[in-house]
Amino acid sequence: MPDDHVHLNLFTMNAVEHVTVGSWRYPGDQSARYTDREYWTEVARTAERGGFDGVFFADVRGIYDVYGDDRDPAIERAVQTPSNDPAYLVPAMAEATDHLGFAVTKSTSYNHPYQLAREFSTLDHVTDGRVAFNVVTSYLESAAANLGVGDRMDHDERYDRAEEFMDVCYALWEDSWDDDAVVRDRDSGRYSNPEKVRAIDHDGEHFRVPGPHGCEPSPQRTPVVYQAGSSDRGRAFAAKNAEAVFVSQPTPEKVEAYVADLRERAAAHGRDPDELAFFPGIVPIVAPTEALAEAKAESYRDAVDVEGVLTLLSGFVDVDLSELDPDQRIEHIETDAIQGTVNAFAGGESDWTVREMAEFAGLGTTSPVVVGTPEQVADEIEYWYRDVGVDGFNVKEVARPETLTDFVDLVVPELRDRDLLRETYEADTLRGNLFGRDRLSDTHPAKQDG
Ligand SMILES: Cc1cc2nc3c(=O)[nH]c(=O)nc-3n(C[C@H](O)[C@H](O)[C@H](O)COP(=O)(O)O)c2cc1C
Repeated sequence: MPDDHVHLNLFTMNAVEHVTVGSWRYPGDQSARYTDREYWTEVARTAERGGFDGVFFADVRGIYDVYGDDRDPAIERAVQTPSNDPAYLVPAMAEATDHLGFAVTKSTSYNHPYQLAREFSTLDHVTDGRVAFNVVTSYLESAAANLGVGDRMDHDERYDRAEEFMDVCYALWEDSWDDDAVVRDRDSGRYSNPEKVRAIDHDGEHFRVPGPHGCEPSPQRTPVVYQAGSSDRGRAFAAKNAEAVFVSQPTPEKVEAYVADLRERAAAHGRDPDELAFFPGIVPIVAPTEALAEAKAESYRDAVDVEGVLTLLSGFVDVDLSELDPDQRIEHIETDAIQGTVNAFAGGESDWTVREMAEFAGLGTTSPVVVGTPEQVADEIEYWYRDVGVDGFNVKEVARPETLTDFVDLVVPELRDRDLLRETYEADTLRGNLFGRDRLSDTHPAKQDG
C-alpha cells in the first residue's frame, strides 16, 4: 500500500438484515428503510465524512432455506430476504458524494461476463471511477434453482468458471479499446477509430465472446477487484485476481497466516505481493465511556435473533444446524458453500460448539466485536493495522445507521488524532485512494496476459 493509513469500508447490504440478524427491532434502528434512497445517500455522506474508502455491498441470490429445510424462518426473520439489487443505489450515492467508492457484489455463476463487463463500465463512468467488483461464486442451492440452471455447481467448478469469467472481463476492459480509440472528430464525423478497437475472440470452456467491448474505456477500466474466498481454491483465485481481499479469520494468528499465504501465492503469479490489501471485518461498539459501551453491547445482544443467526449460518456452511445438539462441537466438514466460515469455527484445538458459534456470530458473524471507548476501539484498530499487518477494515454494522454514525463521530476523530486516517482524500478514483493509481497494476495477470 502506498500510504500509511488505515483504509475503511462500510460493510452493508441492500436488505433489512445483513450479518446481525434481529437488529432491525433494536429501538431506533433504521434497517427497514433500506428501500428508501435518502437513507442510502445519508449513509454515503456519513461514510465520506469519516474518510471511508468505500461502501461495500454484499449480495446473495437465493434464500436461506437450509435451516430446518425450510424457507419460512428466513422470510419471517428477514435473513437477507427481502433484499434489493445494490448496483442501482450506486448512482444516487455517488451523486451525494465526491470521493467515496462503491463495491458491488456480483456472482460469476449467474451472470454472463459480456453483460457484467458492460454494467461495471457503466457504473465506473457514472461514478467517475469509484466502483469495485466483489467477485463471488454464490453458495445457495436455491439460487441455482431459481435461475434455471439445475443443480448448483460444485465449489471448485464454480471457481473454474470464475477464472474464465474474469479472463473475459479483463480482455473486454483492458484490451479491447485503446485509450485513444475515441477521437470525437466532428469535421470527419469520426467518433471512434475502429483500428483502435479490437475483438477479444474468447473461445473457452464456459464462454464464447468475440467482442469487442461495447463501452469506451472508463476511468479505472477494470473496477477494483475485491474477493473473499478462503478455501484452498478460493485463495488461489484471490491470489491471482484480487486487489483487495476480505479476511474472515477469527484470531490475529489466523489472519497473519492467511495474509502471508495469499502474498506468497500472489508472488507465484508474478504479482507484487505488497499490492494486495487485506480487510478483516470489525464490529465496533463504541460510546464515550466503557460503561456506556458495555450497556450498548448488552442491548444489542438482547436484540439478536438466535434462530435467525442459525438460519444464516446454516446457509453459509450448507449444514442444517437445527439437526445438531447445541452442545455438539463443530467438526471439520467439507462444504460446497462457504468453506471459510467452517474453517473459522472448526479444526485444531479451537472447535466451537453450535451454541458458542451462534452466540459469537450473533453480532456480525465471524468478526471480532470490539466494545469500548473511542480510545479503546482505536487501540484495537491500531494493533491490527501495525502489529497484525492488515491494511484496513470492513466495518460491520450492528445497528443502522448507529454503528456508522458512532464510528464516524467518536472513533474517526481519535484515528485522525493518531495520524491513522486520512483528513482528505488523496485521489479521485477508488483505486487511486486505495493504491495510488487509477488503473490496474502492471503486475496484475490481466495486464500480463493482455
Ligand atoms: C467477508 C465475506 C463476505 C462475503 N460476501 C459475500 C456476498 O456478499 N455474496 C456472496 O454470494 N458471497 C459472499 N461471500 C462468500 C465468498 O465470496 C465465497 O463464495 C465463499 O467464501 C466461498 O468460497 P470459500 O469456500 O473459498 O470461502 C463472502 C465471504 C466472506 C468471507
